[in-house]
Amino acid sequence: MLIFELEKNSSKPLYEQLYIGMKNAIITKQIDVGTKLPSKRKLADFLNISQTTIEIAYGQLLAEGYITSKPRVGFFVEEIDTLPYVEKEQSKVTIETRITKKYQYDFHPGKIDTESFPFTLWRKYAKELFDNTSKEYLQVGEPQGEYELRFEIANYLYQSRGIICNPEQIVIGSGTEQLLPMILRLLEDSSKFALENPGYSAIPRIHLQNNAIPIPVDEDGLIVDELEKTDANIVYITPSHQFPTGAVLSAARRTQLLKWAAVKGTNRYIIEDDYDSEFRYIGKPIPALQGMDKNEKVIYMSTFTKSLMPSLRVAYFVLPSTLLTAYKQIFSDYSATVPRFDQHILANFMKDGHFAKHLNRMRKIYRKKHDKLTNTFETFYPEITITGDQAGMHVLISVPLEKTEQELKQQANELNIAVYPVSDYLLKPIKYERPTFLLGFGGIDLVDIEPAIHQLMACWGIRKK
Ligand SMILES: Cc1ncc(COP(=O)(O)O)c(C=O)c1O
Repeated sequence: MLIFELEKNSSKPLYEQLYIGMKNAIITKQIDVGTKLPSKRKLADFLNISQTTIEIAYGQLLAEGYITSKPRVGFFVEEIDTLPYVEKEQSKVTIETRITKKYQYDFHPGKIDTESFPFTLWRKYAKELFDNTSKEYLQVGEPQGEYELRFEIANYLYQSRGIICNPEQIVIGSGTEQLLPMILRLLEDSSKFALENPGYSAIPRIHLQNNAIPIPVDEDGLIVDELEKTDANIVYITPSHQFPTGAVLSAARRTQLLKWAAVKGTNRYIIEDDYDSEFRYIGKPIPALQGMDKNEKVIYMSTFTKSLMPSLRVAYFVLPSTLLTAYKQIFSDYSATVPRFDQHILANFMKDGHFAKHLNRMRKIYRKKHDKLTNTFETFYPEITITGDQAGMHVLISVPLEKTEQELKQQANELNIAVYPVSDYLLKPIKYERPTFLLGFGGIDLVDIEPAIHQLMACWGIRKK
């Protein structure tokens, strides 16, 4: 009889030790094919362990095909094909951990104010949902997103952005990046895309590679005359606060763009990304293009990334009714990408008026940060110029220095400050007269804004006037 060394004090159960020992003995042919194994009782006596332990180990070997059982006769070792076995070398690849460097002052445009999030309220809504009465939400929900949330979004869009739509036109997804490919699939394969240059870098990088046509932007937003010179039929645009320049599309350009889209027989569409329109500091809110459009040519999209939190991963688009049938045909078998519970927490939060209240609070907070930033930079005028400061959560500054943007960025990084060169957002190179940077102020504490700017200016050798 084969001797199996079983360690009674090991953390591995006895049945597992026995199973592994026998399996190895079979694989290495220490037990010949066809050999009858000792009966459970005999082996239990021999090893001084319980019959149940033997039974479980034999059961496992049986299940994996190492032995067979002949009723009332016993267990026999099976013929097994040996797999070519290559000793694995210890992997030499070191796994790179993605730890992004933390800066003392990070002007990343995607950062929000984390101090003012209403955790207590959010927890209350989450707590209310996670109980027996929400059993239904354990099942898969509607592909377009939960009706209750779409209803609240339609309401909000009407009140705040002048957008008239019904919940059937809204599709919820886990981010602008995830929703854009869906929109692209709805449009004809032969479509030609135009993008703002500079623009939101995620779009060309993720979806359109090099095929998109870059359209220049000036202080009035996208230059529609330039768009008209191309054969593009779809344009992606951020009219309320152009990303990254911060320009607001002028009223004249809005009309021109809508007219461009309405030309008959061209199958043109405007994808309007209204990502941060909630925050406006100068002048009246600018209505969305979608609300001005009479020809169903605008696909409106927005997100809760700026207004609530980027980690929520809730964004949405509003389809013109002309694209609804195509949407249903292509996407009705796809599941929504946002968990149902998260959608209902948000819907209830909105229904009870907390989203509107939160926005009001955040507007005040961001306005204070915005004013502190612009006032501090004012003391460096005319050396520094600021643009794009009418809305949103970032501005553009340009500096009168001979160095490249990358050199200046490096210098700032060495001082523990993160700044973002506009050249990182170019679809096609543009020669800026002066190095230009995006400065997001959402994630910097109000009290830190002034010292952060002073340190940055000192590091670049820019003095107050
Ligand atoms: C132009 C633009 N659109 C959309 C978004 C938001 O994207 P998401 O909804 O995927 O978070 C951002 C985020 O910063 C943005 O800059």
